[in-house]
Amino acid sequence: MLFDSHAHLNNETYTDEEREALITEIEASDLSYVCDIGFDLPSSVMAAEHAQRFDWCYAAVGVHPHDAGSMDEGVIAKLRMLAQREKVAAIGEIGLDFYYDHSDRESQIYWFRRQVQLANELAMPIVIHSREADQITMDILKEEGAFSKERCSMFPMRTGPGGVPEKDARVLLHCFSGSRELGQQYVKLGATLSVAGPVTYKNNKKTPEVVAAIPMEYLLAETDSPYLTPVPFRGKPNKPIYVEHTIRRIAAIKGITYEEAAERTLKNAMHFFGILA
Ligand code: NI
Repeated sequence: MLFDSHAHLNNETYTDEEREALITEIEASDLSYVCDIGFDLPSSVMAAEHAQRFDWCYAAVGVHPHDAGSMDEGVIAKLRMLAQREKVAAIGEIGLDFYYDHSDRESQIYWFRRQVQLANELAMPIVIHSREADQITMDILKEEGAFSKERCSMFPMRTGPGGVPEKDARVLLHCFSGSRELGQQYVKLGATLSVAGPVTYKNNKKTPEVVAAIPMEYLLAETDSPYLTPVPFRGKPNKPIYVEHTIRRIAAIKGITYEEAAERTLKNAMHFFGILA
């Protein structure tokens, strides 16, 4: 019973046949849920359609910072409509990418803020993409009230270590690549961290450190497929069923069984996306 909390079945690089093959594989696998994550308007529409079509699929809708330069208020209005469809569970992926800088930084910042505002207005979870923009991402989230009392009061409490109820801002840092300290700050604010294939890479020392330091209660697992393929399939296109390998690595770092890590990340993701058991 696994949850891939971040995949792109909606990716424009797939042919229809390739997409159907992935879906067939998911349905024959141990995956209980996949969240199909939008990155522009067409992919958000497709994610919402997948969520409608498949029991195991949920969707996030949003525009990635790469495409911020082409956004306008009309796109926000369309996202608002899409977000209210059944099983559309989050706004995302949204954020800042100062590594690629495909859109100018001013547009990235402006449309990131607007989409956080949309998520607040609709009381929805937020899926964040942040690259080479650690501090400013956190600053904007704080300024837009993503961790505020008002926002946290829209969502049920989460269960922290030792069964202690804690505030939950339902803000997810997808494919978290920051430091242990940054991860700890986020968790304190009520955020959740998601770990992808890079945690399985030998040369990656940082992410295993984050996983070791952050309690299981705040961790999700994802593939970000077709990108970031975990070992032992690194070099090939990624797929949702490979989330197993990221979960195995999390279990090894935590010193728990694979089954425990699978169950915990499944429960955490169901809570994050508001899926009732
Ligand atoms: Ni992604």
